[in-house]
Amino acid sequence: MKIYNKGPVFLGIVIFLALALFPFYNNFGKANKKLDIKTDTPAILEYEKVNGKKECVEPKAYMRGEHMVLINNWRDAVVRDDNRGYLSSTGKRWNMSLQNGCMQCHSNKKKFCDECHNYMAVKPFCWDCHIQPVEKEETQS
Ligand code: HEC
Ligand code: HEC
Ligand code: HEC
Repeated sequence: MKIYNKGPVFLGIVIFLALALFPFYNNFGKANKKLDIKTDTPAILEYEKVNGKKECVEPKAYMRGEHMVLINNWRDAVVRDDNRGYLSSTGKRWNMSLQNGCMQCHSNKKKFCDECHNYMAVKPFCWDCHIQPVEKEETQS
């Protein structure tokens, strides 16, 4: 079988991928430039004072990529198994709750969750049912 056709096919694939992925990295680049999320809420600063460092329930890189999966698992654990204790990969225990877990620390929903979701153009529907944290003006600085 002749393989003289390989070049054009390969080029075709590259062009296809470039077009298919364009909306993603175009959006991502913009997000990187302007994204300004704050992790300086009262609860987080208090945690830092007590524990000597800022910390999420899992390492930051994991949270950035996988928090949607994590909260889904949390919901299933609570709703199906009535289990509210989460043991993290670093051996810490956390309260599995959106309102009394995530949003306790990330009480600045607008400058954190919404800020990133807006730039990434995703719109979780969670707040139709779950209560949004009350935002305090001083966290807007
Ligand atoms: C004990 C307080 C605390 C709790 C509870 C908590 N977080 Fe975090 N979260 C933090 C801190 C502090 C950071 C920044 C960590 C760092 O800079 O290393 C962070 C980082 C993140 C990030 C990554 C942000 C980035 O810069 O990419 C996401 C996403 C996130 N948290 C979502 C959640 C979700 C969802 C939950 C609940 C499942 C949750 N967090 C629970 C304190 C918390
Ligand atoms: C650093 C950016 C960033 C931060 C901060 C962030 N998210 Fe997200 N979130 C995303 C991205 C990107 C997606 C879409 C992922 C996908 O579609 O695979 C997403 C998706 C989700 C989803 C799933 C939505 C769906 O329709 O599937 C939930 C739920 C969610 N985020 C909750 C939160 C909560 C709660 C916070 C604040 C505590 C938060 N996120 C903070 C980037 C972020
Ligand atoms: C139709 C209403 C509704 C919507 C929409 C909804 N939930 Fe829930 N969620 C509930 C109910 C009801 C419970 C059970 C409450 C309990 O047992 O404490 C629950 C429990 C949870 C729990 C565990 C308990 C707790 O205190 O947080 C998590 C985590 C959770 N939901 C996350 C989410 C996320 C993330 C979204 C968005 C992707 C979402 N939910 C959308 C109704 C809803």
